[in-house]
Amino acid sequence: MKIATIVGARPQFIKLALLSRELRKEHREILIHTGQHYDDNLSGVFFKELRIPRPDYNLNVLSHKQGEQTALMLEGAERILLKEKPKLVIVYGDTNSTLAGALAAAKLSIPIAHIEAGLRSYRKDMPEEINRVLTDHLSTFLFCPTQNAVRNLKKERITNGVYNVGDIMYDALLFYFREAKRKSKILPELGLYKNAYFLVTVHRAENTNSAGRLKKIIDILVSLNKPVIFPVHPRTKKYLKKFNINIHGSKIRLIEPVNYFDMLMLQANAMVVLTDSGGVQKEAYFLNTPCITLREETEWSETVKGKGNNVAGIDKINVIRAIQKFSYIRPKNNPMLFGNGNAAKKIFKILRHHYKRSWIC
Ligand code: UD1
Ligand code: UDP
Repeated sequence: MKIATIVGARPQFIKLALLSRELRKEHREILIHTGQHYDDNLSGVFFKELRIPRPDYNLNVLSHKQGEQTALMLEGAERILLKEKPKLVIVYGDTNSTLAGALAAAKLSIPIAHIEAGLRSYRKDMPEEINRVLTDHLSTFLFCPTQNAVRNLKKERITNGVYNVGDIMYDALLFYFREAKRKSKILPELGLYKNAYFLVTVHRAENTNSAGRLKKIIDILVSLNKPVIFPVHPRTKKYLKKFNINIHGSKIRLIEPVNYFDMLMLQANAMVVLTDSGGVQKEAYFLNTPCITLREETEWSETVKGKGNNVAGIDKINVIRAIQKFSYIRPKNNPMLFGNGNAAKKIFKILRHHYKRSWIC
């Protein structure tokens, strides 16, 4: 069967790696890269490291305003879907590439499988929330990472085609962790020791595009008493420069975005991770590293219940208190809330069951 996968941003390359392997055992997968992320350290590096096949198409849309970027992707994806005529389109997560891929497929009446369906922040001012709500409502197969995601869909009366398969990022972490441990040299390269540094990632539009919020975040980081390793997303780099935010004299070490193996090692050995990333919150949880979420809410409420993730916002006192708390209460996380690390295999089996008759064409 011919399946088209549409992706475009860093976390989607990590999410697709194992499902793509699974699908290619029996299917023809057409891989469409929208070009939303195009720097090598946000895109190419993951294809090489995770041994993802080269995309069949790259739409090269690059960076634009929200609507313009989504429209360019929609136009490009439609053109390719019309040519390739796949039986199914797979999209991942909640980026503009996800929505554009889903819209293109829906307009051509091609069934959509949404991986990581059912996540909600209930904040309509987040572009990701718009993308995930619309994609869920267009999808035929909704592969949820957790039971909570299934419940969220039920609240919106989406019950058909909903499967809790576990989290595909947990699959990836279990699959690649040993190799990462063997290959990554990031700790000695940066002169770091276990539990002796903080790891930070910040890239959400809500945190970066406002000078006030970004300055508050940097002010928190400046006050920390151990090295702060901060792989900087290009969006954040742009706004640090624009707002003229200076970190000289502090313990903050701004570095370029790192590859997945290095990121896993940085997360596994950090004293505390501070982040506004969805994927990083989960990975810190899987690795039992305490996490502080620099947002007012999280889509990943499971990580909070286990006390492994403190959603502290960007209030300095909250963040410092959370760090102190973690120094005497280590989290006892339960990654099983995110499945068994076999989400890709489950998705493959469910699709096989549904497409029994047309499987071999
Ligand atoms: C996007 C997703 C976000 C996801 C994140 C993963 C949307 C709405 N947002 O955010 O959900 O968490 O990816 O990292 O889809 N840029 C570069 N080089 C690149 C890509 C981007 O320099 O290769 C810069 C550009 O200045 C661009 C900015 O980063 O304007 C933001 O990129 P964009 O893809 O629009 O959003 P992200 O912040 O990356
Ligand atoms: N990541 C990475 N290098 C970095 C920062 C993040 O490999 O410098 C990985 C991280 O381990 C996780 C994913 O990227 O697997 C998370 O992506 P991101 O934070 O960009 O987006 P989100 O998950 O918030 O959508």
